[in-house]
Amino acid sequence: MSFKVPRGTQDILPGQSEKWQKVEAIIRDICRVYRYNEIRTPIFEQTDLFARGVGETTDVVQKEMYTFEDRGGRSLTLRPENTAGVVRAYVEHKMFGAPDQPVKLSYLGPMFRYERQQAGRYRQFVQFGVEAIGSADPAIDAEVIALAMDVYESAGLKDLKLVINSLGDKETRDTHRTALLQHFEPHIHEFCSDCQNRLHKNPLRILDCKVDREHPLMQTAPALTDFLTEESATYFAQVKTYLDTLGITYEVDPNLVRGLDYYNHTTFEIMSSASGFGAITTLCGGGRYNGLVQEIGGPDVPGIGFALSIERLLLALEAEGVELDTASGLDVYIIAMGDEAKQKAVELTSTFRAKGLATEMDYLDRKMKAQMKSADRLGAKYTIVLGETELEEQQAAVKHMESGEQHKVAFSELVNYLSQQS
Ligand code: HAM
Repeated sequence: MSFKVPRGTQDILPGQSEKWQKVEAIIRDICRVYRYNEIRTPIFEQTDLFARGVGETTDVVQKEMYTFEDRGGRSLTLRPENTAGVVRAYVEHKMFGAPDQPVKLSYLGPMFRYERQQAGRYRQFVQFGVEAIGSADPAIDAEVIALAMDVYESAGLKDLKLVINSLGDKETRDTHRTALLQHFEPHIHEFCSDCQNRLHKNPLRILDCKVDREHPLMQTAPALTDFLTEESATYFAQVKTYLDTLGITYEVDPNLVRGLDYYNHTTFEIMSSASGFGAITTLCGGGRYNGLVQEIGGPDVPGIGFALSIERLLLALEAEGVELDTASGLDVYIIAMGDEAKQKAVELTSTFRAKGLATEMDYLDRKMKAQMKSADRLGAKYTIVLGETELEEQQAAVKHMESGEQHKVAFSELVNYLSQQS
């Protein structure tokens, strides 16, 4: 019997994991300077949280959730996204009462969606996201967008496209909804069964349909931007002004309808325009969700955030041919010949590591040449050779691998010598 990694998931092996760590380090640093503190919430939540938070009529809730009953008969779901979970925690811990507002949170962790497997679409994927809860200032919309752009640019991506839209407020949505109903209803039998279901529940979702994308009525559908209330239009204009101030270029796409129900006002996506990226070009998505906190049982507090997957970020880097700097950082490789030398190697390895030097030695009793090859392959900065003569003289030859320079250093001085060099 042989076992395989479950469909839609992947093992991240050494060689690849260094890239993940590098991206995660970039992200942590950006969160530090923008001051988005990390929140860690459970990987599963009550199923109702997503049904309520993300929306009953969304694909995510209807088709993509990993839902199970625990032994106590409770319905639980592996989180398909983390805005609902973060907002749940925000309400549960009464973070709206914290002295510093808005509350700015970030997270990084696995999400689960039962989706058709294809390049860039996984069933388990890692999202980095932020949520800024407690401010309806258009400047924070711009900050959140800037943070997302910063992550990609710091990783080295260049072929990026930022698309923004406004879904307006409740009044905007209601008048637009009526217009959509009038537009689609007479022809709804020409649409897929999902769209027929969506017509009365949430006609905006029809615009997001992948099956009927080419239907002529899609092109002529009333655009939400034409229905923006004056207040919503002003808000959107201010967001754009702040983006201009930050020197962030964007395109306005009135058809940008996000796949989750909680959005209003600003929505945005960042795409990769690199040739060779493949069919799925969206790297990041987010927007404002005034009303969600209340929906989940908290006070009427506005929020905005985004999420991006590390998998797609790495695919975009590959498509653009960007190499992350993931040097292994091995400081010393100790080559030992003979039992006594090995004792010394074990001792020195431990001493070096205690001083913070990344150190490796041979554990296969290989010949000197093979050990030398390992040191080379691992990119060791220095090698130290230990044999009978070195033990007798209580000193070792330290070789700087790049220049080939060698120095004899007394055992007692080795740590100091290496620490000063690195
Ligand atoms: P979303 O658009 O569903 O939004 O997902 C955000 C990002 O997660 C996508 O742009 C994509 O990079 C990544 N993603 C989604 N599904 C997959 C998948 N199957 N495989 C790989 N990557 C995937 C949200 O999740 C919202 N919670 C974002 C948000 C936060 N809005 C406000 N705050």
